[in-house]
Amino acid sequence: MNPPVVRVGVVGAGFVGNALVRLLNDPSRHVALVDAATTSLEVVAVAVEDPKKPRDGIAPELLTTDALALASRDDIDILVELIGGIEPARTYIEAALRNGVSVVTANKTLMAECGTALAQLAHQNGADLFYEAAVGGGIPILRALRSSLAGERIERVMGIVNGTTNYILSKMSSEGIDYETALAEAQALGYAEADPTADVEAFDAAAKVQILSSLAFGTELVGEQISREGMVGVRAIDVEFAQRAGYVIKLLGVAERIGENGISRRAHPAMVPAEHPLASVHGAMNAVFVEGTKSGPLMWLGQGAGGEPTATAVLGDVLDAARNRVSGRHDIPFSVDETLHSVSAGDLTSVFYISIDVADQPGVLAAVASVFGEHEVSIQSMEQSGFGDEARLAFLTHRAVTRNVHATIDDLAKLDCVDSIGACIRVIDGGGQ
Ligand SMILES: NC(=O)c1ccc[n+]([C@@H]2O[C@H](COP(=O)([O-])OP(=O)(O)OC[C@H]3O[C@@H](n4cnc5c(N)ncnc54)[C@H](OP(=O)(O)O)[C@@H]3O)[C@@H](O)[C@H]2O)c1
Repeated sequence: MNPPVVRVGVVGAGFVGNALVRLLNDPSRHVALVDAATTSLEVVAVAVEDPKKPRDGIAPELLTTDALALASRDDIDILVELIGGIEPARTYIEAALRNGVSVVTANKTLMAECGTALAQLAHQNGADLFYEAAVGGGIPILRALRSSLAGERIERVMGIVNGTTNYILSKMSSEGIDYETALAEAQALGYAEADPTADVEAFDAAAKVQILSSLAFGTELVGEQISREGMVGVRAIDVEFAQRAGYVIKLLGVAERIGENGISRRAHPAMVPAEHPLASVHGAMNAVFVEGTKSGPLMWLGQGAGGEPTATAVLGDVLDAARNRVSGRHDIPFSVDETLHSVSAGDLTSVFYISIDVADQPGVLAAVASVFGEHEVSIQSMEQSGFGDEARLAFLTHRAVTRNVHATIDDLAKLDCVDSIGACIRVIDGGGQ
């Protein structure tokens, strides 16, 4: 009897799709790809927008421009969606799932916006919906949370999940350059998009936090917007201050337990202690740091982007889905823990770094300190630097309630002696944030 053939349709042959098809078509890998050498995989078609583009490693006869027709075929077992964005990706995925075809995607935007409905649709139709590469590219963090850590009570997940912002912050830190210069360099090297908003305003990191949190804690995958702050206001002087104080500034995605049933989910720049494992993650690398009650600290580090690393994670999902097909089963979607509630970012306590540009005149410090006092934000340390137009004050607070810190900032901005508010950045100090 011939071994079962699992038939795969791929939509999208860009960076990731092209690398995936090459991996799937590599005959030297087939023994490793099949489960106990009992199953083979066949790529039946690859949908693209422009069939005339040269595609290394993809036979021209496999190409089609009709992705919906491919997604609707009832002779495929798995559809891999690698085009990105909400539409038409959602339409293709829904068409496949309604047919009972399992879906593998790397699309974090779609999963963070429609993941719950798509997971239900998959389950109702006896199909799988896997999305390992949607967070951390080639880093197998979602499978670890879903399987290896399924029995662990996780306290906190903190990740550098956006390579673009980590590249920019690393450059600012190692070369002392400002944000605009580092961004221009990242764009020239292809690490940042021409429109970097999704990365630098932390939309991308926030979507990934939603996905990580749903698997780590059982929060709703889709729904309430999570707290998000971009990194555009971080200046070279803030990065220098952080270095002098023993910290590194990183854009973090964080999901953590607050008390027994509270969960905080957010994405923002943070000052990370130089000795923390996340502080040594440089350039475009990604890392996810997990703290479990029994497991203690764990960290995954790797390439958060790139065609081949990401295709490796996609391939892992394809193989899982293929094994399930052959054994006639599908994974049950993660469940939501209804006892959890979201804690507003304003209610959290943290140490903060605050920098303000001030007038170079007597009495400024007293006026500024009194605003901190009015809002019960106590100062741990203060640094005064510059003269004239460059005069500047930088503070590290003691642990304070975030909404009080924001009220302090609002009132500081109203003082005549304050020219502008520079940065207001959380400091990771080991306690709950
Ligand atoms: N690149 C990474 O490092 C990375 C990392 C993690 C996750 N991801 C995710 O992986 C997915 C793919 O990313 P990518 O970087 O490979 O994207 P990409 O290079 O822009 O490729 C997109 C592909 O989709 C095709 N396409 C677009 N609209 C289509 C349509 N309506 N019908 C058929 N094909 C269509 C394009 O066709 P043409 O080739 O004809 O233009 C292209 O082949 C995205 O969800 C992304 O967020 C990417």
